Amino acid sequence: MSSGALPGFRDFYPDELARRAHIFQAWRAVARRYAFVEYDGPPLEPLDLYTRKSGDEIVGQLYNFVDKGGREVALRPEMTPTFARMVGARANALRKPVRWFSTPQLFRYERAQRGRLREHYQLNVDIVGEASEVADAELVAVAVDIMRELGLTSADVRARVSDRRLLSGVLQALGVTEAQVPAVYAVVDKLARQPREVSAEKLAAAGLSAATVEEVLTLASGTTLETLRARFGAHPAAAESIERFGRYLEHCAALGIGDWVDLDLSIVRGLAYYTGIVFEFFDAKGELRAICGGGRYDTLLKALGGTDLPALGFGMGDVVLGELLQDRGLFPTTIGTTADLYLIAGHWAVGRPYAEALQLVSALRRAGFQVDHGLNAERFLSQATRNQVDGAKKAGAAAVFGVREDGEVEVTAILGKMKDAPTHTMSLAAILAGEPSTMQALRDWLRAQRDSISNSHG
Ligand code: HAM
Repeated sequence: MSSGALPGFRDFYPDELARRAHIFQAWRAVARRYAFVEYDGPPLEPLDLYTRKSGDEIVGQLYNFVDKGGREVALRPEMTPTFARMVGARANALRKPVRWFSTPQLFRYERAQRGRLREHYQLNVDIVGEASEVADAELVAVAVDIMRELGLTSADVRARVSDRRLLSGVLQALGVTEAQVPAVYAVVDKLARQPREVSAEKLAAAGLSAATVEEVLTLASGTTLETLRARFGAHPAAAESIERFGRYLEHCAALGIGDWVDLDLSIVRGLAYYTGIVFEFFDAKGELRAICGGGRYDTLLKALGGTDLPALGFGMGDVVLGELLQDRGLFPTTIGTTADLYLIAGHWAVGRPYAEALQLVSALRRAGFQVDHGLNAERFLSQATRNQVDGAKKAGAAAVFGVREDGEVEVTAILGKMKDAPTHTMSLAAILAGEPSTMQALRDWLRAQRDSISNSHG
């Protein structure tokens, strides 16, 4: 028997799942705030959905096989082709612009390393039917607001933005031919990950002159829109893209994300279908892989057999983001807290039937409380109170409760110090009857206990 999950696959123990859920909650909350609606598609797709348009890199990483019906299939390595197919098939009926989001698990046979696994969850946020660069700015704003929602700032994360049309215009102005462009993109895409000499050699091998190689490397290592405007603003191949990019940056500023965004011509994106503005988010220290990436893919819907509509979107994985939140201590410490209330026998009136304990637990659950107990009648009646309270603490409960001699239910907070722990009493009969005012009073009391603890912890 194998001793663990396959390489690059994760087991999610409850603490890990709680961290994943924390990320998902931010994804969903922000996507909905921007009026995106959720969708999903099949995890298994026809192989040719990816071989047609995704590009060689991702096709080389596919988990594909022939199914029992002889079909060539693949586990989805990305969501965009499924999204494009689904929207393309109903393009006429859908209200535009389409704003959809999804959180699929994706599978890529990559070499497992820090930030890269063979499965990951990826938020996908996409818009269809809008060619204006306002939509491009809106997308980056979604990604930035997710960073903010998770407690990250523009000092932690940078959005590197570019435009394939801008880069190709600049290259054309520098005399690079159309045939040379794909090779140049490939080099520029890897600029940060390979030595400058290697990039220079590859550009020379693509047929660029020594002077052009130098110019391309310099521009791709960092420039500003002002520099580009001064240098290429009058060139017919680049002028329009420069102006468009200027408007895009203005929209970003107006949406309140101006200080997160850096122009970076080395961002071209590995996937084959991008046509316009593209972006990737990185940690500001440059220690981790990309947090997210996306851009405009105006020709993909048509290429996959659908209606000709402009489209754009991004994907944000849970792996690098999780590493960053962990590094910065930004996962909440309350993760793993389970129950509101834990039943103990400490206050249990001698001689009361155990069935009454279960009825009490059940009545509180029906009122919406999270209630835990030991699932063993003998131990419940015989174990020392201190051990039961310890058990309740380990279970992450906020308070313990039981029935006193006088038939009142007593609840004791265990979030802080036990010595002067606040208590709350209620009538057992009222709880068993599910009396709303009794339940509301308990709810309010529990909230007050939690608030006072979180205040005293700052
Ligand atoms: P991508 O750049 O391949 O784009 O992936 C987007 C993000 O998913 C990456 O920045 C990274 O956070 C995460 N990711 C990708 N591969 C892995 C992996 N092996 N392990 C962990 N995380 C990973 C796309 O997939 C595009 N389809 C995104 C898109 C949506 N473009 C338009 N709409």
